[in-house]
Amino acid sequence: MTSVYVFNGPNLNLLGTREPEIYGTTTLADVETMCREECEAAGLELVFGQSNHEGQLIDWIQEAGAEVKAGRAIGAVFNPGAFTHTSVALHDAIEGVELPVVEVHISNVHRREPFRHRSYVSPVARGIVVGFGVYGYVMGLRGLRHAVTAG
Ligand code: DQA
Repeated sequence: MTSVYVFNGPNLNLLGTREPEIYGTTTLADVETMCREECEAAGLELVFGQSNHEGQLIDWIQEAGAEVKAGRAIGAVFNPGAFTHTSVALHDAIEGVELPVVEVHISNVHRREPFRHRSYVSPVARGIVVGFGVYGYVMGLRGLRHAVTAG
């Protein structure tokens, strides 16, 4: 079965209780369930992960890139959290393994503080979903599938 990855960066384990006025009350476990249902319907195997550690996310990206190259996966939906705005290393990892990535942000980062307007991930992303709440993960999965199959 072909896999698809959903990776989450720092503090997204707090989803549901963290600033609910910005991120809503849905938990990350709920997001995983939504993604799992979406993947089941599409005949894809979901690999879902969250880490507060940049190095762990880089390792996962490299592994996912190798799986895509081997024809066993289609790519990743990725919410890099605050690392979006700081991490050249995540940019380099995605570029280095040519991993198809859809960057997802629950909030509309462009309506927020100026330091959230810059993304190091966007220049190496296949597409970006911003500001649609946790539904953005489902949109990201659909967009990734479409991009990979339709070119
Ligand atoms: C976020 C936006 C980031 O600026 C923030 O640091 C997060 C979550 C979002 O999903 O809206 O942790 O990526």
